[in-house]
Amino acid sequence: MKDLLFLHAFPLDATMWRPQILALRGRARMLAVDFPGFGAEPLGSAATLDDYADHAARALDRAGVRRAVVCGLSMGGYVAFSFLRRHRERVDALILADTRAEADSPETVERRRHVAEQARRGGAEWMADNLPPLLSDVASANLRERVRVIVRAQSGEAIARASLAMADRPDSRPLLASIDVATLVIVGAMDTITPPASARVIVEGVRGARLVELPQAGHLANLEAPDGFAEALLGALG
Ligand code: MLT
Repeated sequence: MKDLLFLHAFPLDATMWRPQILALRGRARMLAVDFPGFGAEPLGSAATLDDYADHAARALDRAGVRRAVVCGLSMGGYVAFSFLRRHRERVDALILADTRAEADSPETVERRRHVAEQARRGGAEWMADNLPPLLSDVASANLRERVRVIVRAQSGEAIARASLAMADRPDSRPLLASIDVATLVIVGAMDTITPPASARVIVEGVRGARLVELPQAGHLANLEAPDGFAEALLGALG
């Protein structure tokens, strides 16, 4: 049985992976980490996505796992790229969902600084009231509320630091051609944050990468199309 490491999106925590953990029970050994300051994790001094990648590597150490299939969604995908740079020998295969290889534009960096400032001032409550379009227009009110509940449980300082850490990340496009593990890219067809065009950049850059586009899903495709997402994961686990 393969080990599967889940890396969460911003500004959520590892509980966003609950549908996949339930769906894949008995099919993979799974570890969903909270990044520093998110979920149950203490904040510590982590301030970069590389710190998050090292934090995930330590979680694997504690679980006694040497190599894992690394599955990151959005910010989790950015961390997966860091993990690959820093712990390549521990990556069995890659699953990159609703994410992008490109770095931020100057406008996005500016927006992330604003988010950090507001999250420090208004905490997770401000964030929950000012979410980017994490879900598509067809998502249920119930799912929207579930997402807001997860966001409200986070710390404002963790949100601020993650926002600044994302702004600081490098362009990962130069890394793509060197990826030599099986790579699956998943994207919600209605994702407007990291749209299908960004997924295609990754697929075209990584030799042999496969693309699964989930029709009825926005950015948090694992929550909007949990069955299709789980099916794609099972395909990647072989
Ligand atoms: C996420 O879902 O992790 C974030 O929306 C990613 C981003 O803002 O680039």
